[in-house]
Amino acid sequence: MKEELNKVVKVAENEINNASSIYDLMQLKSRYTGKKSVLNSFMQKIGSLSKEERPAFGQTLNIAKKQLVKMITDQEKKIKELDYNKILKSESIDLTMSGRKRAKGSLHPITKVWREIEDIFMAMGFEVAEGPDVEDEFHNFDALNTPQNHPARDLSDTFYLDNDVLLRTQTSTVQIRTMENHPLPIKIISPGSCYRNENDASHSPMFHQVEALLVDEGVTFTDLRDILNIFVKEMFGSKIESRIRPHYFPFTEPSAEIDIVCVKCYGKGCNLCKGSGWLEMGGAGMVDPNVLEKLGIDSEKYTGYAFGLGMDRIAMLKYKIPDMRLLFENDIRFLKQFS
Ligand code: DAH
Repeated sequence: MKEELNKVVKVAENEINNASSIYDLMQLKSRYTGKKSVLNSFMQKIGSLSKEERPAFGQTLNIAKKQLVKMITDQEKKIKELDYNKILKSESIDLTMSGRKRAKGSLHPITKVWREIEDIFMAMGFEVAEGPDVEDEFHNFDALNTPQNHPARDLSDTFYLDNDVLLRTQTSTVQIRTMENHPLPIKIISPGSCYRNENDASHSPMFHQVEALLVDEGVTFTDLRDILNIFVKEMFGSKIESRIRPHYFPFTEPSAEIDIVCVKCYGKGCNLCKGSGWLEMGGAGMVDPNVLEKLGIDSEKYTGYAFGLGMDRIAMLKYKIPDMRLLFENDIRFLKQFS
């Protein structure tokens, strides 16, 4: 029986030393030392031995059991250490590796132009005024001398939210809001979003304008021309002249359209300016006395100029962006170029 026991211990030792996982080891533990284990079956066989043989075998059995338990604990330690080393290795950090760069964000070209415009005009003493994107017909049309039958008020051109409520089609609304609330003299610009039902390479349903309004005693058309020239040179460089051409706007008299020398060919004529050497930038004029009077401003004493420029257009010219839709698609490959 002793020989049999030795054989079992040998086999067990071999199996325990080869166990590579805690799970396998626990299986062996229960197989060899548990209640229904091989060693226990020897215990039951003790009864078949002679009285003299029993104590000695019992002792041998106990020693064998202790041996197996120790082997199992040793192997358990070994396995755990191996596992731990594996984890350490997998989680180790190579401190000599160069770091990963975080992608840097950048300002949208319109935001850049927006801020630059504010800076240029604030340096000349203009305040920045704001008005709501959702407007009423009074501020968007009526107060700006744009009567009920004017084509700009057509449903197909303007986004109405309700009978009298619409997305403003122009930042000129802020002229009215400022004249309603601001003490004279007034010297403001108002950059912001506008909305019209149009969509192609040079028009977007949502676009941006910057409005300017100066109302004071003795303001003249030459003041308007001068401020536009200063702005254009600050924005595009000293080579770029501006000019004003007669035009019509309901809320200015006289009215003008503002052009600048083509930023691509400097006036020679190219595909950008369609051969004319000039690019359109917006509208301007002397505030119509009717507009002033309706807001309670004495048009005998006060005169004013106003203009509205397309900010998207300015961004396109400044950064040589060929299609307006690029400004609103937010393609990361496009935007990355402005970082
Ligand atoms: N609001 C006009 C438009 O969107 C542009 C404009 C014209 C603004 C003349 C003005 C102005 O302030 O005086 O077409």
